[in-house]
Amino acid sequence: MCTVVGYIGKSLCRSYIFEGLARLEYRGYDSAGFACLEPDSQKLLYTKASGQLSQLVERLEKNPIDGFLGIGHTRWSTHGNFSERNAHPHFDCVKSISVVHNGIIENHDELKKQLIKEGHTFESDTDTEVISHLFESFLAEKKFNYQTVSEIVQMLDGMYACIIMLQKFPDTLVAIRKKSPLCVGVGDGEMFIASDVIAFAGKTDKVFFLPDESFAFVDKHGIKAYSFAGTEIPVKIEKTNVSFDNIDKGGHEHFMLKEIYEQKNAIAKTVASLRSLGAGLWDQLGVTAEQVAHLKEISLLACGTSWHAARIAQFFFESICNIPVSVHLASEFRHQVFFPAKHTLYIFISQSGETADVLEALRLINEHDLLTVALTNVATSTVVREAKGFVQTQAGPEVAVASTKAFSTQLAALYWLAHRIALEKKLIDKAALVQAEEDLLRAAELMEKNLEKYRDVIDTQYAPQYASYDNAMFLGRHISYPLAMESALKIKEVAYVFAVSYPAGELKHGSLALVDTTVPIYVFSHPDPMIYQKIVSNAHEVKARGGHIIAFAYEGQHELCELAETVFVISGAFPPLLGTLATLGVMQYFVYAVAKKRGCPIDKPRNLAKSVTVE
Ligand code: AGP
Repeated sequence: MCTVVGYIGKSLCRSYIFEGLARLEYRGYDSAGFACLEPDSQKLLYTKASGQLSQLVERLEKNPIDGFLGIGHTRWSTHGNFSERNAHPHFDCVKSISVVHNGIIENHDELKKQLIKEGHTFESDTDTEVISHLFESFLAEKKFNYQTVSEIVQMLDGMYACIIMLQKFPDTLVAIRKKSPLCVGVGDGEMFIASDVIAFAGKTDKVFFLPDESFAFVDKHGIKAYSFAGTEIPVKIEKTNVSFDNIDKGGHEHFMLKEIYEQKNAIAKTVASLRSLGAGLWDQLGVTAEQVAHLKEISLLACGTSWHAARIAQFFFESICNIPVSVHLASEFRHQVFFPAKHTLYIFISQSGETADVLEALRLINEHDLLTVALTNVATSTVVREAKGFVQTQAGPEVAVASTKAFSTQLAALYWLAHRIALEKKLIDKAALVQAEEDLLRAAELMEKNLEKYRDVIDTQYAPQYASYDNAMFLGRHISYPLAMESALKIKEVAYVFAVSYPAGELKHGSLALVDTTVPIYVFSHPDPMIYQKIVSNAHEVKARGGHIIAFAYEGQHELCELAETVFVISGAFPPLLGTLATLGVMQYFVYAVAKKRGCPIDKPRNLAKSVTVE
């Protein structure tokens, strides 16, 4: 979603703000903006541009501005289209108060009407602009102090992280946080404010994470923080070891391709790091060995691709740990009736650890003092701070919006965890855990080998052939159904193909009506002979109606291959539960190649963002 960055201190701020924005641009890239106080005149200056950050950089190169305090923003539009007009910062009527914001002000409509009645003039269609006008309205009559800010924030509903810079108060930036992430990096005579520590990694390792529903006055030497009610709260400075390596494409044309090829190592690293936790694992998970031994249920909550990982992991936990698993879309969870269960392990799966829906579900479950664990790729993320314990995948930074290596490392971590829990429950022995680790490494290797086997023919034949279709249907059964869902999501987001996914057995209940010669049907097979036979029957139903089948099959599955127009045979030996992992590389590369042929902006698809911090 949007990124907010701010600086106040001894140096000119523009270079830090732009570096911070560039590091976090994956969060949203519809438009960008920068404002600062000009050092001599102390006037508030700003520049905005529609489109990616590079457009703003170009503008600033022509007309440079800089100052010792400033704020910056990249936007993922919620209210108002993506245009320069709606780009942040937003201002009060006389452009002396500026604000950058990530989140949604839910009661903006009502506040806007009230402010217009008072005589304020609005320039944008955003919800954000009410914040700067509210400051203007309050400061016309009241002092600039914590009581006034407390009154203002109590008027704002929704979720938000914002930074406010006021021309009249050049020694202070105001940082406000309700649910959306916000932190302050504490330097020597300088302060860095940002949506994520990555923005200032390398500049300071001291960080203050604003607690939920708090605000802070930040000057170059210190921070004073308050709860929304106006009570002063302690500023707890933590040490962070986050580093930022300038990540490049490593010779690949796109980050997505690079990340597809990083999967084998990322899985190996994930397995090694989980193994290295040894006896400390349960501590890190915030549970006791006894609680694990007595688990009666596992509940998995996530969104998007991470939810697909959860759907696949359901089969891992149920068959390896022999306990029931429920899987929830975090975005739907809070609308359902929740039945708190003491012997349930609630696992929140999120690559970024910042997905608002996941965090809301976690907060709801945390109200009941239950066993909550975050499974994430980012150790400094909000989900880690709020869950009772965590497991970290070792995918390394994933830059492409379309998740690849984060997904496969989630699968690896969940498969490993299923075995580790089974060991604690005495359902398997140590040797079986070691075997599971070896199987994971082999499946990861096969993932890449199978990709390599088909890469050339995908480039030369299949991608050109299937890139011309605007629609697609993906079918699977049992564990291959969530793989079909993930494949449909991938082709939607990177290739802009309208795709649907179904459990193959559901075809005859309605979706078969969509089958004709104009829609490619991607069929994901299953290693289990019985399930395979059912999939073959479904493929016959498709074929009989003129459907083109593209099959992802396993060795020896001749009947399915004969029905298909195009076949990818996933070869090698792996346990049936790891068939999805072995298939993943070919599927991801196929989607990547189709997207490339269709001329799509693969790493930054339209309308999307890497970190989804609004509900
Ligand atoms: C996947 O390619 C997408 N980028 C998206 O579905 C993503 O998985 C989802 O937004 C959840 O994100 P998270 O894993 O960071 O919580």
